[in-house]
Order: sequence, then structure tokens, then C-alpha cells
Amino acid sequence: MSDSRQAEKVYKLYAEFFDKAEQERRWNPFRDIPWNDVKKDVSDDLALCAETFMAVESYLPDYVANGIQVVRPWFGRAWFGANWAYEESKHSVALLEWLMRSGKRTPEQVFDFQAKLMEKKWVMPFSTARQMTIYGSLQEMATFVIYCRQEQRAIVEGCPALRAVYRLNARDEMAHAHFYENVVKMLLEEEREETIADIAFVAKHFEMPGVGIVPEYDARIELMREQGQVDRDVFLQKVFFPLLKYIGLSRIDLARAGATIREWPLPPGAQFIASVRKGGSPEPARAAVGAASQVTPPSSLAPV
Ligand SMILES: [Fe+2]
Ligand SMILES: [Fe+2]
Repeated sequence: MSDSRQAEKVYKLYAEFFDKAEQERRWNPFRDIPWNDVKKDVSDDLALCAETFMAVESYLPDYVANGIQVVRPWFGRAWFGANWAYEESKHSVALLEWLMRSGKRTPEQVFDFQAKLMEKKWVMPFSTARQMTIYGSLQEMATFVIYCRQEQRAIVEGCPALRAVYRLNARDEMAHAHFYENVVKMLLEEEREETIADIAFVAKHFEMPGVGIVPEYDARIELMREQGQVDRDVFLQKVFFPLLKYIGLSRIDLARAGATIREWPLPPGAQFIASVRKGGSPEPARAAVGAASQVTPPSSLAPV
């Protein structure tokens, strides 16, 4: 199939995504959160998690600048990137507003923290459009799962405002995941072997954004795991295996691709993380069943 036919298919996916977003999913972080119901005495742990998610969402300038360039030749994918950026921009704003309105952080603390974040730059984890699309499908769904679990924490601690923040953010993340999944499905139809190899490669080196750029990231993630009960098994069960099912791939398909990708050099994100962690001992990958043993589930689960 020609590039223009493929571009037309992606455009149709984008048109569906955008139309639905305009009709059903637009929201305003200043008006659609019940800010009068913000609870002032929630736990410090809940606030620290919110701050961590705000931090990861705050590298939006890097995500946009790098991510949109790699899909620039494909109209639908590039325009999705622009819309994605608009939607993501609300996630950090909603979390930032909650941190200040709950009294858990002062404005000075929030903006000092923001300035500190911008001292570091996010490195794009993979270098091709296809690999970044696969990465997006996993990362967005993982983020959805994490936000849903944090929403439950907000309910337990009795803060309707924070609950709404996580609910609205999660709904966007699910929509992003679906767009990426549909593009991956289309790529499988068009470039099956190459796409399967890329799925195996991205799964093997998958990490959520935040490692090496968010201050005290490992400690923050440890707390988030305790708070949100999100770990590697959850990643496999709620994110990776459902993706395989949706796109119609088996673990055997992926296992076959293992030989193809064995000699591929480390992708940029894995090189960056390795350099950050040099001297430290990276967490061992937990072996999973069947072809899932090809997958190194993320040691760092945090949202975008
Ligand atoms: Fe997202
Ligand atoms: Fe987000």
C-alpha cells in the first residue's frame, strides 16, 4: 500500500478521535473540578503522588517538541500530536491546582519545583514513528491504570476534587491509548513483520517517562507502588496482554520476533537510563510466562 493510502487510513483514525473528543470529552480544569470540595487534610503520601504525576506531565514541552517531529510526515499522526498536547496540558494544570488549593503545596513551592524540573530534559525513548506509536499505546494505557488507582485512593481519603482530577485525566489517557492502539493495528496490517519486531523491541525496553529527570524519582515511584498497588504484574495483566489481544497478536508471534531484535542496539531512552543509573544496580527483570519473558516490564511506572 502506498504511503498516501496509509496516510489516509491514519487520517480517518484521527478524524474519529478528534470528533469524539470534541463531542464527548472536552473539559476545563478550572470549571469542571469541584474545587469547593477540595479536602485540606489528606495524607502527605497522596499529595506526594499527585506532585510526582504533575512532574512527569510537566515535561510536555519535550514530549511535544520531540514527539511531533518524528511523525511530521504523516498528517493524521502529527495533528493527533497537536491535539494530544492540548489535552495533556490540562493534566498537569489540574494536578498543580489541586496541590495549591488543597494547601499541600504553596504556589512558591509549586513553581520552584517546576523550575527545577526544567533543568533536565526528557530523552525520546525510541527513534522511529512506529516504535513511538507502540510506546504510546503502552504508556498511555499504563497511565490510565495508574490514574484509576489513584482515583480510588482519593475516594478512600475523601477528596472529591482530587477524585475528579484523576477521573478526567484517566479518561483522556484511555482515549490516547485507543488512538495509538488503532494505529498499531493498522501498521500490523500494512507492515506485519516489521511491526511485530518493533512491538517486541519496545516491550523489551519499555520504561515510563521520569527516570533520571524527576527529582528523587525512585523513592517517589516506590511510594506510588505502595499507594496505588501498581507493579510489574499489573503492567502485564492490565496493559501489555490486553494490547496483544486487541491487536490480535499471540505471545508466540512475539517470541519469534525475539531473534530479529536480539542484535538491535539499545534505543535512546534505554541508553539514557543506563547512563543515569551507571554505578547503580538496575532492577532485575521479572521473568514472565511464555513470550512475555521477552518483556522487561517497566521499573518506573508513572504517568503522562
Ligand atoms: Fe495521555
Ligand atoms: Fe497525561
